[in-house]
Amino acid sequence: MCGIIGILGKEPAAPRLVDALRRLEYRGYDSAGVATLEGGVLTRRRAEGKLASLDRKLGAEPLYGTSGIGHTRWATHGAPVERNAHPHMAGAVAIVHNGIIENFRELREELEKEGETFESQTDSEVVAHLINRELQRGADPVAAVHASLARLTGAFALAILFSGRDDLMIGARRGSPLAVGYGKGEMFLGSDAMALAPFTDRVTFLDEGDWAVLSHDGVTIHDESGAEVKRPIVRTAVSALLIDKGNHRHFMAKEIHEQPEVISRTLAHYVRFDSNSIELPGGGLPFDKLSKLTITACGTAFYAALTAKYWFERYAKLPVDVDIASEFRYRESPLPKDGLAVFVSQSGETADTLASLRYCRDNGQLIASVVNVPESSIARESDAVLQTLAGPEIGVASTKAFTCQLSVLACMAIAAGRKRGVLSAADEAELVSALVQVPRLMADVLKREDEFDALAQTLAKAPLVLYLGRGSSYPLALEGALKLKEISYLHAEGFAAGELKHGPIALIDETVPVIALAPKDALFEKTVSNLQEVAARGGKLVVFSDAPEAQAAVKAQANFVLPMAHSLVNPILYAVPIQLLAYHTAVAMGTDVDQPRNLAKSVTVE
Ligand code: F6R
Repeated sequence: MCGIIGILGKEPAAPRLVDALRRLEYRGYDSAGVATLEGGVLTRRRAEGKLASLDRKLGAEPLYGTSGIGHTRWATHGAPVERNAHPHMAGAVAIVHNGIIENFRELREELEKEGETFESQTDSEVVAHLINRELQRGADPVAAVHASLARLTGAFALAILFSGRDDLMIGARRGSPLAVGYGKGEMFLGSDAMALAPFTDRVTFLDEGDWAVLSHDGVTIHDESGAEVKRPIVRTAVSALLIDKGNHRHFMAKEIHEQPEVISRTLAHYVRFDSNSIELPGGGLPFDKLSKLTITACGTAFYAALTAKYWFERYAKLPVDVDIASEFRYRESPLPKDGLAVFVSQSGETADTLASLRYCRDNGQLIASVVNVPESSIARESDAVLQTLAGPEIGVASTKAFTCQLSVLACMAIAAGRKRGVLSAADEAELVSALVQVPRLMADVLKREDEFDALAQTLAKAPLVLYLGRGSSYPLALEGALKLKEISYLHAEGFAAGELKHGPIALIDETVPVIALAPKDALFEKTVSNLQEVAARGGKLVVFSDAPEAQAAVKAQANFVLPMAHSLVNPILYAVPIQLLAYHTAVAMGTDVDQPRNLAKSVTVE
């Protein structure tokens, strides 16, 4: 993962590097570092922990160079200690790296045999040594980088500076994103447009295998073979303003409360309110020609995809293969001729999802993506982009992006149902009018935050929490457990309610809260039977349902009666209580809600 930034500038680089790194901290936050060039000399500062530690260090020991590189790290190889923090330096070379150099052990052995000494346990340091060795053999910096890149296997985005070369910075990408930014007599490199936004809105997104040679006045871009290539300069709409928490204590709380607004905005993009129908951009997708649909994603986005499987199969009679991207990408799944593959991703940079996309593209699929960041790699490599308009999501735990993904996927399922002749115009209007109720109903649920907070205080003392759901509530049970685990570190598991008796029911005793997502849909009675099995074994049942009778039916200890809604939209609506439960449990347990341990917002390594 990691975020990288490079500046060939005219004013002190260190504060600008830190500013950019603050925008990249979502990519990792276990250590950070910068190096600047001052009078031709490379000097660096690095610090363990969040960016604030580096900022303090720079306050005490400032750097004055006007060109520099910076890095915020999510450790892959080597513990998150200062020694492993970037930039890494060897001789005249300093580098920052995002990605994984898979053949670093062989390269390191080779270099050590030649007398090079390494100071870190990272895979990245080898890149600095390789380039430096080429320089020592007499190559100029450009040739040294080109020769070194050819030796690397794995994924990388790199920014490289050279001592004694104040007017040179080289960037390279393979497998990890990198953008070139254009200023006035200044040039930049960054992992994404957001990092570059304070400096410029004119950027070039490098293509796979590209490397770029920057001076203060411009850039020359080469493809993998070394041939000079032209890549378009685009204007990005990313705001230079840093997003703040408003009146909320955490970004996650703010983002949970933004949901009615961002879902409205997202739906407005796809719904024709005059006819209560769906209009997908670009004339829609060829759902009527498909024998099956493939949907791939990771983590929370995967749970959105799994929910969509229920919708596509029910409302469009379209079979869906849905898989976790890290599994799908190596599964060699046979794909239908002229099929459609959909990828769901908030960041649009998730390495496994991107690799799955490329597999599908190489196997003749039309590619559609549901993404939140329109400049992202996944968006740029898609034939059709269905944007979620959630706005920047800063909290590591996905909340508003998830419900916006669900909203877009619901629109797609309805459009598919119509195109395949499964839904009539009246059916479509009924479903669309249910969807457009979501923001209002969600606002009602949000008003009950105190009730969920009170329940969270008891969850915080539990040894384990189980979530149960059936049908389209099953993926949400998985999501509820994930939310709780990732931000409160409390062990939680989600199960299909009907599956419990095949093993997990052994976990139930009187100390284990079991949270049931049981809207009154076609499967309600079945779920109630499963919940009775839990109650009979002393489980502490908590029921979320729009059926007031649910509590008595299953002798639940607590019952939250949620607004009555169409079964299509229940997974979107019921997402709110599970998010608030996770949030308040984490607050009660005193964890770092927005930046939980070991995680990063954008997972750009496999
Ligand atoms: C959990 C969470 C992650 C992401 C996953 C995919 O709250 O945020 O599970 O959903 O890493 O990320 P994107 O959607 O950026 O591809």
